Order: sequence, then C-alpha cells, then structure tokens
Amino acid sequence: MGHKSDWPANPAIYQVYPRSFLDTTGTGEGDLRGVIEKMGYIAELGVDALWLSPFFVSPMVDGGYDVADHSAVDPRFGTMDDFEELVAAAHDAGLKVLIDQVLNHTSDQHPLFLAAVEGDESAAECYLWQDPKEDGSLPNNWLSQFGPPAWTWNHKRRQYYFHQFLAAQPSLNLRNERVQEMHHQEIRFWRDKGVDGFRFDAVTSYLFDESLKDNPPSSPEVHEKMVTFRFVPYSYQDHVYDMLPGDGAAYAENLRKWAGEDAWLLGESTSGNNSLKLVKDFTEEGRLDAMYTVDMPEEGADPEMLGRLFDEVSDLSRYGKWMSSHDQPRHISVRGDGSDRDARFFSMMMAVLPGPWMIYQGEELGLPQPRLSREESVDPVDLIFWPDGPGRDGARVPVPWGEGPAFGFSEGSPWLPMRWESDRAVSAQTEESTLGFYRRALAARKEHGWPEGTVTGHKTKGEVMTIDLDVDGRAWRAVFNYGTDTVSPGLGAPFMASQHCVGDMLGRTAAIWKL
Ligand code: NOJ
Repeated sequence: MGHKSDWPANPAIYQVYPRSFLDTTGTGEGDLRGVIEKMGYIAELGVDALWLSPFFVSPMVDGGYDVADHSAVDPRFGTMDDFEELVAAAHDAGLKVLIDQVLNHTSDQHPLFLAAVEGDESAAECYLWQDPKEDGSLPNNWLSQFGPPAWTWNHKRRQYYFHQFLAAQPSLNLRNERVQEMHHQEIRFWRDKGVDGFRFDAVTSYLFDESLKDNPPSSPEVHEKMVTFRFVPYSYQDHVYDMLPGDGAAYAENLRKWAGEDAWLLGESTSGNNSLKLVKDFTEEGRLDAMYTVDMPEEGADPEMLGRLFDEVSDLSRYGKWMSSHDQPRHISVRGDGSDRDARFFSMMMAVLPGPWMIYQGEELGLPQPRLSREESVDPVDLIFWPDGPGRDGARVPVPWGEGPAFGFSEGSPWLPMRWESDRAVSAQTEESTLGFYRRALAARKEHGWPEGTVTGHKTKGEVMTIDLDVDGRAWRAVFNYGTDTVSPGLGAPFMASQHCVGDMLGRTAAIWKL
C-alpha cells in the first residue's frame, strides 16, 4: 500500500512460537527471555521482522489462542518488562515486531464470558447466545472449524453459545460496540508498547449473519480439494452465513483505523471458500497489507495452486507466502521426503517468488514432522482426530539449539518430547547446511529485489513449472522441478539454485536465471 515508511514492502517474517523456542527458566516451556537471548540468531537469518505467537494470559487450551486477558503477559512466558525488553532488542537488531491479535474469540475463562455466564446481559451481548430449539436441540447447523458443532450448552443460562473453534473459545460479536472499544484499546495498548504490526487471527471468521440461517451444503469439488481437513464436516458446508456475510472484509477498515497507517497488518484467512478473492477484498485500500491462506501449504505450493494465485492475485505483495506454521505439519515431511534437498527446494521457491514470506521457527534447520504418541499429545485438535489429526503438536516440538537430552532448549523436561537427529541442531549446522542455505536465500532475495518482482508469465509442463519475473525492468526466470527426474531447461548454469546445477536440473530443484 506504500504508506509504511520504514517497513519493507514485502517483509520476510520469522514466526516464533514462544512456548517452543527457548526456555530460560527450566520449566520445560519457552519464554520471552528466550526470544531476547536468540535475537541475534533471528537477525542473522536476514529476516525483516519477528512474529510472536500469543504470549497473553491464557489457560492454554488452544496453545495460547484462547486468551483470558489480551493486554497482559502470561507469567509462564515472563513479565511485561520482558516484553518491553524484547521489543527494544528487536528494534536494536533492526527487526520489526509483529504480534498476534486474537479478536475473534476469547477464552471461556475471560472475565467478560464469566460475567455473561453469571447473567450480566451487557456482557452476554458481547458473544452470541441462543435459546435451544423447542426440542432442546442446537439453534442451527453451524459447525466449528475443528469438527464438532459450533454451539455448546451452558446450563446456567440454559442457552447455547457460539464458537467457531473449541468450546473453550466463545466467539465474540464483533458488531457490538463494547467489543469494538475493547479491541480498539487492546490494539492501542500494544502499539504504545512499540509493536510495529499485527497478525490478525481468524480474520475471516469475525462476522456472522444475524439471521442465523443454516449454511447450505458445499459442492463435492470444494470438499475434495481440502487436504488436511477433508474429514472434517465443516468442509461439507458452504459458509455463507457463519462467516463474512456481505462485505465482511470492510471490517478490516476498523483494524486499520485502530492500528494506524504505519502498522503492517497481516490477516489469517481460515478455511472457507473463495480464499483468494478474500485476499483481495481484505487488502483493499485502507484495510490490511497482506493476507495468507491455507491453499499454499495444503496444496504444497504446486503448479496448479501457484498458477491460480498468479492469475487471481496480480499484486503479490498482498499475499503472504508460507509453508509451515504452528498449525500445519512441517512441510518438508508432508510435501517432501523430509530431506534437506526438499527443505531447500521450498525455501528457494519462497525466496524467488514476489511478496511477503513467513518462515516458521525451525524450518531453517530442515526440521521434519515428528510423530508423537497419543499420551505425548496435548493439542485438543490433534486429539479429536487421533491418529489422523493435523499434527499441530508435532509442528510445535521445541527448537533444537545444541546438544544434550533437551538439545539446549531447556534445562528441564521439554513440554513435548524432542527426538531430533543431532545434525538438526543449530550448533551442528554449517554454512553448507540448510541453515546456511536459508541465510543465503534470504540475502539474495533482498539484494536482487525478488520480493518486489511481478510475474509476467508462467507455464507448466509435466512436473516442471517455469515462471517469468520482472524485477525493476530486469527479466528473471525461475524453474521449479517438482518431480524426481533430471530436466534440462536449456538456460545454462543458473544464477542460484537449491542444489548444485550446471545446466541440467536434478529432481526437486528450484533455480533462478537472470535473462
Ligand atoms: C488460528 C491459529 O493459528 C490456531 O492455532 C488457532 O487454533 C485458531 N486460529 C483459533 O484461534
């Protein structure tokens, strides 16, 4: 949008899930001081910003996305002084700080929800409460994104309340003025602490149609397209009434107003149809800077998905690219064979494609997706579908920094078991390993202006996608060989490639040429 004077137009953002980053107190859970300690490591990667997943007061039923006080640090992560020091350390290291804002819902332990349960009607109006149907059954057919119905009974009020995620996360009514004022204050609170931008959790779930009509069934194509959640009944519905009725994206104008023109704003588009159209709607002038959708990791950034992205979102600065997060199984295992080769293939691809890029902690080490037993698992979503759940716990296994049973993550017992191969640890990586490759790819991305490029053409033949790019008047060509056969693009030695390449490209190589 061009009004962020000191934000790069297309930042590379490193996502820290604090509970799994570095523990400085021996509790087995990471904390804010751990992030401060490793600020140099993050800056040396060559990213522009740090995105911190929730560290707010929370019963941690949904890993911190169930917030009980949006303007306070949970003691398990440290103190407000620690947070202020973290922001100062990030700024000193030349990094911007982006934090999560979970505005769609609260924890069921939030004082506002507890007051609603106790009969405070003004508090109740901040959520969505409904009487049962005459026969006691649910008010309508709406489902939570994790599978079960979106309605949970509360015996005190003898009513159902609405929740798009877990029952422990009652959805707020974002049209309510008291809720809006609360959100406005929360956002200002964090801006005053020096935060430079926000990642808005579940921004596409904010509004629902007040008629509360049943959603119609979705088409079989929409349902079959879903990779991770195909088995969730949520994908059987067309979400026309429970999310974004009318121009719901215009709500983002409030977020912009509250956060300020100079904040960089990223929205998370959760499941739903027309995800790429939503990207455009939410990033119109005066709204968010960028959105990201599940299409990319769920479809493995394959040629079909990338082609659709290029054709539908012409300005790629509005689309955040990513492959892994605390919600998705680590991509080198689900979209590859877990090898360094595949880690580099995807990082090269992300580096050369225009637009912002979000890197999830540990992907720069080539971490594969670990398997956890049922007893070891804590994530309610993984447990609902055990053993076929999304693998969110696996993605949250702590970062290996060094040697020893807890790989230098903690002096205590890690909250999730760490069974990494020793060569994955930061201390074992070299300039030649995956960590070194990420650093080089990030440096080249910045130096050659790839994030600011535009896609001028693309074609796919078999398992090879060729993309033409224009970067400030200079032509580049990227070739992604998704298959395992060697191919010959006929362009000579590339400018940069994910694995050694003199002209022929081995299977699973991404490379770029200056034309
Ligand atoms: C998206 C978050 O990334 C995820 O971890 C959480 O479960 C849902 N939103 C609900 O807040």
